Amino acid sequence: MRYLSIGTDQKATKISRIGLGTWQFGSREWGYGQSYAEHGARDIVRRALELGVTLFDTAEIYGFGRSERILGEAIGEDRESVFLATKILPVLPLAPVVEQRAVASANRLGDRRIDLYQVHQPNPVIRDGTIMRGMRALQRVGLVGEAGVSNYSLDRWRAAEAALGSRVLSNQVRYSLVARSPERDLIPFAQAHDHVVIAYSPLAQGLLSGRYTADSRPANRLRATSPLFLPDNLERAGELISTLREVADAHAITPAQAALAWAIRSPAVVAIPGASSVEQLERNVAAADVDLTDVEYGALAAASDRFRPVTGPAAFRGVVRARLRR
Ligand SMILES: NC(=O)c1ccc[n+]([C@@H]2O[C@H](COP(=O)([O-])OP(=O)(O)OC[C@H]3O[C@@H](n4cnc5c(N)ncnc54)[C@H](OP(=O)(O)O)[C@@H]3O)[C@@H](O)[C@H]2O)c1
Repeated sequence: MRYLSIGTDQKATKISRIGLGTWQFGSREWGYGQSYAEHGARDIVRRALELGVTLFDTAEIYGFGRSERILGEAIGEDRESVFLATKILPVLPLAPVVEQRAVASANRLGDRRIDLYQVHQPNPVIRDGTIMRGMRALQRVGLVGEAGVSNYSLDRWRAAEAALGSRVLSNQVRYSLVARSPERDLIPFAQAHDHVVIAYSPLAQGLLSGRYTADSRPANRLRATSPLFLPDNLERAGELISTLREVADAHAITPAQAALAWAIRSPAVVAIPGASSVEQLERNVAAADVDLTDVEYGALAAASDRFRPVTGPAAFRGVVRARLRR
């Protein structure tokens, strides 16, 4: 495992370049079932700990608190070695509400400290002054270590930092070979200012594994109705998947591992892939140690540039058709 070091008040913290995303834990939309929620998820966390993963990401909304509970129980006694991140959905971002919700998350996690408390998405109406007042109070009493945001533009990330009056360490955003907008400004900013971009959906929810095609689409509701997994788009992704396979073959790894190695190339980026099995987790962790050459990196970026998914009204019609079929 490779790590990114951040200096904190108390200690130098090591964040694993590959972490574990846990939206899948206890969430109906992924459809992994009861046995995954009760046993599989725990096994994934335990193996991640053995392999040196320190970054674990959850949110109060995942499985309506189940993900936090499952994760907290699975980490158990190993709490000291992890960097635990959760998120608040800022529906009513008033300082007392933020404080109360952080306490509720910490209770579900079975802990007295949240290492990274992230605002899940920008509230479209209320600016960040009030939520950051709550965040500041939580940091003062030691319940929260670092503040973070998610799905924020650069301007809003900086405004949140100004409102907090100290570092908003990270911005968790969608980043992968099929979602590259963070390269425009978020990643350069993070690199220049010792901040962190946390890449979510780094495997494009499994698309970049190459396992899904127009004839073999994922069954679960979340992906069956996602524009990216429409048959047209799976076909269009064919060239990108072929390039991933070529790069993967040269390193004796899988396309998913090549996609993760690509995503964490910038030293300011860490990725939090989810996993449906221990084997996937093991492969994802191993991707942290893969070094792509400049030529391979460039070939993947070029194939990604050529991938033009169907979007807009045409994709909308496809999604409606997919929903009606279910
Ligand atoms: N902040 C936000 O708004 C936000 C939004 C989305 C996600 N997130 C966070 O980011 C995490 C990851 O994102 P995500 O779950 O959306 O997408 P992802 O990590 O890109 O994809 C995860 C899925 O890919 C497949 N997979 C994982 N490892 C694989 C491997 N080695 N080989 C082949 N397939 C593999 C698995 O699905 P199958 O095996 O079923 O194919 C798995 O459930 C989430 O768990 C969550 O913590 C945050």
